[in-house]
Amino acid sequence: MFPQTRLRRLRMHPRLRDLVRETVLSPRDLVLPLFVRHGKGQRVPISPMPGHAQLSVDLLADEVREIVSLGIPAVILFGIPEHKDDVGSDAYAADGIVQRAVHAIKETAGRDLLVMTDVCFCEFTDHGHCGIVNEKPGFADVDNDATLEILVSEAVSHARAGADVIAPSGMMDGMIDAIRTGLDEAEFEHIPMMSYAAKYASAFYGPFREAAESAPAFGDRRTYQMDPANANEALREVGLDVAEGADILMVKPALSYLDVIRRVKDVHPDIPLAAYNVSGEFAMVKAAAANGWIDEARVAMEILTSIKRAGADLILTYFAKDACRWLESE
Ligand code: PBG
Repeated sequence: MFPQTRLRRLRMHPRLRDLVRETVLSPRDLVLPLFVRHGKGQRVPISPMPGHAQLSVDLLADEVREIVSLGIPAVILFGIPEHKDDVGSDAYAADGIVQRAVHAIKETAGRDLLVMTDVCFCEFTDHGHCGIVNEKPGFADVDNDATLEILVSEAVSHARAGADVIAPSGMMDGMIDAIRTGLDEAEFEHIPMMSYAAKYASAFYGPFREAAESAPAFGDRRTYQMDPANANEALREVGLDVAEGADILMVKPALSYLDVIRRVKDVHPDIPLAAYNVSGEFAMVKAAAANGWIDEARVAMEILTSIKRAGADLILTYFAKDACRWLESE
């Protein structure tokens, strides 16, 4: 009680603040998303995501060397194929865009960089949905069980290409069990899965859909992604994924869902938890900073720290490279 207790005492010296800091962000916590495209010598800027570009496979070597030198442990790949069709064939082709990118990165970085692959279909289908679309009376919908089959092919082909971690993001029921079984049958029982377990139907994905050219041609994703109003349901989603064999769980987006991150961590403290600081969260900070309205580095680091404080063990973020530089200059 005051005056014996004065919490300001622990704030008086910067080194003492360092000693009592509860949450410390490190480059080792971060995963950088990369967008890969067909073509040669292509670096196509993504306008709502300053500093990010779709890169052709031949440019990945330089990019990856920089990422490793900054101390970033992992990338997650998103592919933009040359041709899209209604079943997303490029997603499970041995020479698909993601498969070629995995090869190229492995050739450059070997085991210095972990390569995660997003396993979904929205970038690969001409209709932009995350699976096979079927007509139902009165509306078109993604066919859950038909999509599971091609998700398995996609995951196995990523593993064959050399992916280290498979990250299913399509929010199909049963996808973790189906992919685990498929990977095991193909003798990839050692490849872990990071499940986008609680993924919300969020407007914060807007810039990503421009980056990945994956906006749905009709309708939206609300029949498979979660309602932003629900948090109890997130616990059901993650509970099922744990039972189905997910090795790492994910909550996505991060910033508007810090409560969900905390609750998932409380219920599953023993399972590594990822959070995805998504494109819209990044774009908002960039836009405000470009206007001189906020201090970009401080705001970004505060956001990343808050995501870790909420309970995330690893953070997928477009700030990964910047954050490493900011951490170094601290
Ligand atoms: C689906 C996927 C999406 C994102 C990551 N994986 C988009 C979506 O569900 O529409 C969004 C990531 C971001 O906004 O940064 N393949």
